[in-house]
Amino acid sequence: MARDEIKVYGPATVSNVGPGFDLLGFALESPGDELIVRRNGTSKLVLYNQTDSKLPTDPELNVAAVAAASLLRELHSNEGFDLVFTRKINPGSGVGSSAASCAAAVVGLNELLGSPYEIAELIPHAMEGEKVASGSTHADNIAPAMLGGITLIRGYDPLDIKHIPYPDDLWCAVIHPHLEIKTAESRKLIPQTVPLETALKQAGNLAGLVAGLTTGDYPLIGRSVSDLFAEPYRIHQLPDYKALKESALNAGSVGTGLSGSGPSVFSLCRGEEMASGVGEQMKKHFTVRGIESRVYISRISQAGCKII
Ligand code: HSE
Repeated sequence: MARDEIKVYGPATVSNVGPGFDLLGFALESPGDELIVRRNGTSKLVLYNQTDSKLPTDPELNVAAVAAASLLRELHSNEGFDLVFTRKINPGSGVGSSAASCAAAVVGLNELLGSPYEIAELIPHAMEGEKVASGSTHADNIAPAMLGGITLIRGYDPLDIKHIPYPDDLWCAVIHPHLEIKTAESRKLIPQTVPLETALKQAGNLAGLVAGLTTGDYPLIGRSVSDLFAEPYRIHQLPDYKALKESALNAGSVGTGLSGSGPSVFSLCRGEEMASGVGEQMKKHFTVRGIESRVYISRISQAGCKII
């Protein structure tokens, strides 16, 4: 019997991961969004926000509704649905808040409609929502939010997305300082062209990171987590970023960098204990500067969006 209502979990994600600007990302086990998608018997998308986060309820401005509308358009469907947010990652936190919502919306809708598409085929629709949030159709949060694991976008035209293997004991500590950075604004800070020498260093690091993850070579992972395209132009938005990175590395982080466009910062770590210690160290950095923050300690999640 066809279902009329479904609840979906969309995980937070860390994108860029150092040298993979717009190309690399991974899913966290938590935090995440929870979204109910239900048929409403009209021909409209209607939004309900049951969370503390401020979310636009105009379907043209809400990223999840834009993603859902894109999918419905392709299916030539004029069925109406409610999208009810029951849990929300803080918008502007740098852990893929809009991607989690867009991914959950299209996965839920697809399931209610009898799964006309494979999950990977839904990615372009989720990207339409991401475009509203960031002004560009990058998929480095969307892809891991939908497919889980660590994903590399080898190419955008056509979309070519591959899972990258990683060691079992790879954990991540993420610190979310309570500052807000809007991705669209943060993208405007990045130069549109880079010198050849910079491009070569970045390509070397991205290849090194993928090789290190695939073979479990932690020192190689550590040498490769470095971003020359975006991070240098964004870090002034965080207080004493260099000191934060140094203290995380001294506490045992394998590689530390801005999570997406920030303000969250990720540290890749070997094992849960190391990740917890690094997380504490990163939290201290903000506490002594009078900034509240929240730490997430998580494995890389094998799963993307889940029906719950
Ligand atoms: N790759 C994107 C950026 C991720 O750095 O702008 C943010 O959503």
